[in-house]
Amino acid sequence: MRVAFVPTMGALHTGHLSLVQEARRRVKSSGRVVVSVFVNPTQFAPHEDLAAYPRNLARDRALCRTSGVDVLFVPEDTAMYPQAPVPPSSTCVVEEALTRSMEGSARPTHFRGVTTVLAKLFNLVLPDLAIFGAKDWQQAAVVRRMVRDLNFPLQIVVAPTVRESDGLAMSSRNQRLAPDERPQATVLWRSIQWARGRVQAARRAVPAAQLQKGVAKLVASEPAARLDYVAFFDPDTLEPTRAVHRTSHMALAVFVGKVRLIDNAPLGVDAP
Ligand code: PAJ
Repeated sequence: MRVAFVPTMGALHTGHLSLVQEARRRVKSSGRVVVSVFVNPTQFAPHEDLAAYPRNLARDRALCRTSGVDVLFVPEDTAMYPQAPVPPSSTCVVEEALTRSMEGSARPTHFRGVTTVLAKLFNLVLPDLAIFGAKDWQQAAVVRRMVRDLNFPLQIVVAPTVRESDGLAMSSRNQRLAPDERPQATVLWRSIQWARGRVQAARRAVPAAQLQKGVAKLVASEPAARLDYVAFFDPDTLEPTRAVHRTSHMALAVFVGKVRLIDNAPLGVDAP
């Protein structure tokens, strides 16, 4: 029986459910689709939004039921990270190349928490494949590398980013936006569209610095928005590129009020 696994932190939305659909497409009715909901404390830094992270297990359970999920796995914090008298864990998984830039440099302890919890979840669920969203492009690249480097016996599948009708990438954190912040949050998607326009209209590569300036200006035009970073890079190696062209990828992180949002997209094609 083939098992497809969709790890999540809950507060499920249509983006998560698109991964469930992809999981079902891959394993058919004879296979099993497993979703986990676990708000993983080790991937949040002490000053981040662990306490404020949206949680709604009753709704998640109902959504899993209506979406044909076979198993919903909701481990307790103490099951994943035992406390005294059981000694706390002293082993972790660290990817050292792809985590240097972007989310890895903005949130230095984040990916170590992600790779460690995923190693644990993969060992508990033993899936044949695991589905990740392109929304977290760097995360998917890091997980793929971890699976390759450590010979985890499973396949990593990446499914497209699902967006609201105004372009905002779906995210559990969108719930935390105040009504006046919600329209400003589309500045991430508008920045991507603007950079795409520049790159697709140019005959030669466009200097990254020029695009960075343009995005910074666009983000600064929204009173509640503050740019954390914008990066242009090779989609496979995540190496930053100084000369941005149609095969380059863009990612950015923006605070809208207190909520930190991320987004990314290829620049040469108008894919989601
Ligand atoms: P979470 O943010 O809940 O996301 C779970 C999965 O859903 C990830 O693979 C993410 O990329 C995907 N996803 C989120 N929004 C999406 C969207 N708009 N379109 C498509 N896919 C989307 O990412 C995590 O949780 C955690 O880091 C986790 C991998 C569970 C480890 O704790």
